[in-house]
Amino acid sequence: MKVADMSKEIVILNGPNLNLLGKREPHIYGSDTLADVERNCAAIAAQSGYTIKLQQSNSEGAIVDMIHAARETACAIVINPAAYTHTSVAILDALSTFEGPVIEVHISNTHKREEFRHHSYVSKRAEGVIMGCGIQGYEFGVMRVIALTSN
Ligand code: DQA
Repeated sequence: MKVADMSKEIVILNGPNLNLLGKREPHIYGSDTLADVERNCAAIAAQSGYTIKLQQSNSEGAIVDMIHAARETACAIVINPAAYTHTSVAILDALSTFEGPVIEVHISNTHKREEFRHHSYVSKRAEGVIMGCGIQGYEFGVMRVIALTSN
């Protein structure tokens, strides 16, 4: 049995510009920060004995590396790939090497926005997609992967 099969670690990955969450276009993304996301998700995870590892990068290759690392440690991935959602075959391919559940999260409802945001490569791999629920979407993602991995 692999380490990840027994793991209770949920990796939450965030793509470019999400380091500025809370400061960046608050009319679209709100005023809460990634630290708030981490705190809220950790509280939910702890109730079921899970832990959270929240990471962010502005680089596509670094996100691919984080997914590879999650293969060894995590039971599930919750990912907001940000702009790479709409462009990155590399992130899709990396997620396809991960054996546990993947939930895609978007803070905004990308279908209400520009046409180029309507397509997601990552949705081809994700078990579920949550969008338009603000940062609460991450919490829903954590709840979903706990439901999928606990038995
Ligand atoms: C986003 C939506 C993307 O289109 C955008 O590029 C982002 C954030 C969201 O969370 O709503 O950076 O993924």
